[in-house]
Amino acid sequence: MGVDRTSKVASKIQIIGALSVIWLLAIVFMHFVRPIILPPVLNLGVEKDEVLIYGPWGNERRFTEEGQPNREELEKEEGEEDVWSYNDSCKFVLVESIPQDLPYISARSAAQPLIQSWMELLDSAQDSVHIASYYWSLTGPDIGVNDSSSQPGEELLGKLETLLARNVSLTIATSDPTLAVNSTDLEVLMGKGAQVRKVPMKHLTHGVLHSKFWIVDMKHVYLGSANMDWRSLTQVKELGVVIYNCSSLASDLEKTFQTYWVLGVPGATIPKHWPQNYSTNINWHHPLQETLDGMVTTAYFSASPPTFCPRGRTKDLEALLSVIRGAEDFLYASVMEYFPTSRFEHPIRYWPVIDNALREVAFNRHVLIHLLISCGKNSDPSMFPYLRSLQALTNPQTNITIEVKIFIIPVGNHSNIPYSRVSHSKYAVTEKKVYLGTSNWSEDYFTNTAGVGLVINQRSSDPQHPAPTIQDNLKSIFERDWQSPYAISLDKLPGQQDCAWHA
Ligand SMILES: *[C@@H]1O[C@H](CO)[C@@H](O)[C@H](O)[C@H]1NC(C)=O
Ligand SMILES: *[C@@H]1O[C@H](CO)[C@@H](O)[C@H](O)[C@H]1NC(C)=O
Ligand SMILES: *[C@@H]1O[C@H](CO)[C@@H](O)[C@H](O)[C@H]1NC(C)=O
Ligand SMILES: *[C@@H]1O[C@H](CO)[C@@H](O)[C@H](O)[C@H]1NC(C)=O
Ligand SMILES: *[C@@H]1O[C@H](CO)[C@@H](O)[C@H](O)[C@H]1NC(C)=O
Ligand SMILES: *[C@@H]1O[C@H](CO)[C@@H](O)[C@H](O)[C@H]1NC(C)=O
Ligand SMILES: *[C@@H]1O[C@H](CO)[C@@H](O)[C@H](O)[C@H]1NC(C)=O
Ligand SMILES: *[C@@H]1O[C@H](CO)[C@@H](O)[C@H](O)[C@H]1NC(C)=O
Ligand SMILES: *[C@@H]1O[C@H](CO)[C@@H](O)[C@H](O)[C@H]1NC(C)=O
Repeated sequence: MGVDRTSKVASKIQIIGALSVIWLLAIVFMHFVRPIILPPVLNLGVEKDEVLIYGPWGNERRFTEEGQPNREELEKEEGEEDVWSYNDSCKFVLVESIPQDLPYISARSAAQPLIQSWMELLDSAQDSVHIASYYWSLTGPDIGVNDSSSQPGEELLGKLETLLARNVSLTIATSDPTLAVNSTDLEVLMGKGAQVRKVPMKHLTHGVLHSKFWIVDMKHVYLGSANMDWRSLTQVKELGVVIYNCSSLASDLEKTFQTYWVLGVPGATIPKHWPQNYSTNINWHHPLQETLDGMVTTAYFSASPPTFCPRGRTKDLEALLSVIRGAEDFLYASVMEYFPTSRFEHPIRYWPVIDNALREVAFNRHVLIHLLISCGKNSDPSMFPYLRSLQALTNPQTNITIEVKIFIIPVGNHSNIPYSRVSHSKYAVTEKKVYLGTSNWSEDYFTNTAGVGLVINQRSSDPQHPAPTIQDNLKSIFERDWQSPYAISLDKLPGQQDCAWHA
């Protein structure tokens, strides 16, 4: 009996010893060996004061919460030449389009009307216009609709034709296959001398080219949610930005345009390593900095999918996550669709990357979160449970607020126009930054769809006379919409699948 008990104790000690050794080996493996043998993972946890995130070149890098690189990062950066030897005076102007018959919204705005800014940009063009757009349908007949609200689109097409008559070159990258199968816009423009390449995204990445931007005379830029579609001017709510007199950002975005352009050649494949001249030094940890009229602005472009990001280009998902994680007071976001899943890949996969980031900042830092999501005739009601789940985290006692509203644009007498009367905007604004993108917030847009994002921060360099920053302006646009009668609280949605306007 005694001997028996001793040997039992001894074997217990052996087991504990063996377990400790295994435990130690596991720790050694996790901390030292794994990072060497396995590729880095996107770490969603916030560790101490640092945020772990994919670096611009696919390495895991560490940044402080301000998005500032560590000292060793800075030392690495030293010695890189300064690319910003431009004589720029970059001016950032928000642009939007408000669908017809939204009386509560059309009033004063911190943004310019999109059609006006587009027309002025084209009038000012002297040399070249480059346009990346998902699809083209600028005329009523393009989509088989006879409606007076297609007129601004038709005028825009006419203006583009006059460019070519003025010897301004017009270069267009668009997606193949296209949604607008009956449109003749591109044929009309090619007939006048426009150069067009259709990027076979379905073949290249199983995605689409969803980007929407212009580069005018290699110094002005438009980027936003609007497609080259007449409905974007009169029937769909859109938001974007025009950057004037900014060769540095224009030539940086041109590098992304060139990634599409080379892939539009028949038989082209995505290079494993993009040539050096596609790489950029303007990115998340090294944004462009500009001072104009007492306003200090920093800005950079992001791109998706990751295979379209040459060296130095911040990936669109990283840009968005860094804006979410950088928030300390509030985060307001307006997106057309919100799914913490994949949408087009089958089987559909759960993908809570953005969802988790929102929950983290709401929980860890009590950031006030307001989400404004669009809903219309073609919306998928399976989106609502995810939104209710996010909102369920709200708890006044613990200072957690995630509030979701659904933006419904009354169809009124416009029911003859398909795929319209929705809010197509895709942006986020915090007290620190503005993120303007072209992607819905679901997985595919960041993994196989070509898109672009722009992150901007402004602060007044004159505390005596502070002018409104771009954050202030976008915040006021968001609040205008949030407080409008078209923003319906999620709890008050009249029936889960019903996105018709009841007033
Ligand atoms: C930059 O532009 C300003 C105004 O357009 C001009 O006065 C100045 O000479 C330019 N500087 C250089 C270095 O080109
Ligand atoms: C294109 O035109 C055909 C024939 O008129 C029509 O059946 C089809 O619905 C149109 N497609 C689109 C996307 O407008
Ligand atoms: C379009 O509608 C207008 C009036 O609503 C009509 O006068 C015109 O003939 C129509 N055009 C076509 C091509 O059907
Ligand atoms: C356009 O360029 C062509 C050839 O360079 C020239 O003959 C023509 O006069 C130019 N037209 C205008 C309006 O500048
Ligand atoms: C861009 O620069 C030109 C020339 O310096 C100036 O005339 C124009 O007003 C500027 N545009 C904006 C929107 O500031
Ligand atoms: C990079 O250089 C190649 C070869 O000179 C050229 O064809 C390509 O357009 C350049 N790309 C960019 C983005 O400048
Ligand atoms: C909630 O936030 C307010 C204002 O930031 C603060 O005064 C309060 O102590 C917070 N309460 C909790 C439970 O964190
Ligand atoms: C459509 O409705 C608006 C008001 O909502 C009205 O002003 C307009 O005249 C109507 N148009 C037609 C063709 O009925
Ligand atoms: C996302 O946005 C595009 C337009 O930007 C829209 O056509 C599409 O239906 C949206 N939803 C999904 C799931 O792609």
